[in-house]
Amino acid sequence: MQIGGVTAVVTGAAKGIGAALVAELKTRGAAHVAAFDISDAVNSCGADSSYTLDVSDAAEMRAAIGAVEASAGPIGLFCSNAGIIGALDLSFENAAGASVADWQRAWDVNVMAHVHAAAVLVPLMRARGGGHFLQTASAAGLLSQIGSAPYATTKHAAIGFAENLAISHRDDGIRVSVLCPQGVDTDMIRGAEDHPAAMDGVLSAEAVAKAALDGVEAERFLILPHPKVEGYLTAKVAHYERWIGGMAKLQRGYKPAS
Ligand SMILES: NC(=O)c1ccc[n+]([C@@H]2O[C@H](COP(=O)([O-])OP(=O)(O)OC[C@H]3O[C@@H](n4cnc5c(N)ncnc54)[C@H](O)[C@@H]3O)[C@@H](O)[C@H]2O)c1
Repeated sequence: MQIGGVTAVVTGAAKGIGAALVAELKTRGAAHVAAFDISDAVNSCGADSSYTLDVSDAAEMRAAIGAVEASAGPIGLFCSNAGIIGALDLSFENAAGASVADWQRAWDVNVMAHVHAAAVLVPLMRARGGGHFLQTASAAGLLSQIGSAPYATTKHAAIGFAENLAISHRDDGIRVSVLCPQGVDTDMIRGAEDHPAAMDGVLSAEAVAKAALDGVEAERFLILPHPKVEGYLTAKVAHYERWIGGMAKLQRGYKPAS
């Protein structure tokens, strides 16, 4: 799709990858960039308009999308980027050990926010003959996340939803891209710089935003800013049993000595 002239929304835009997406969309000539975030800091992210909301709340999402469409015109690109990692559990005592509330919050923010946006926008985009969703998942949604079952599980689900959205609405002119980086230099990984997710190098948020929008312009489904992820994914699919063993070995090396 052409980013020049488009009306775009970015969620999780107050900082990190979202703020970099806002800046990169402006650089590439988007006509209007609307920023959504749960934090008031969204008001100073450099977007053309900003909205403070919780993207996991369907009614708040519907209202904010409606407000953007009413004031800035039809949304052509929706960058569903907000996400949370929750607490890492590096004791490795119980993969299911996070509280029910933490599992639910991860599900609501990392999965349902994408669903809420699509529920509103798919009918509008179908009526207009197309549109584009960019959904930030993670390499953790392809390759798991050592120390966080809720993050790994919900990012897999986010990719599952993106695939279904892309398949269901290809013939309606709707395109979907799913962004799957490893480590990115944002507050999300602060204090966990030695985590295996960072072992292939930590990219800047700006570099990831550029890769993401290159992928959108090329209408690519899977966007992998860290090139090694493609090889890991191929190896996983080709040798699934060996891959599980390899990941367990990686975790073993990361486990603090007791
Ligand atoms: N940083 C990484 O290493 C990395 C790697 C892979 C994927 N990701 C994904 O990239 C996306 C952006 O992460 P980031 O690294 O920029 O993190 P970040 O913590 O710097 O920024 C996340 C932003 O999302 C907002 N947010 C969180 N919950 C929200 C909610 N319920 N409603 C509205 N806004 C909400 C936060 O206020 C914040 O501004 C996330 O989906 C994350 O899972 C990050």
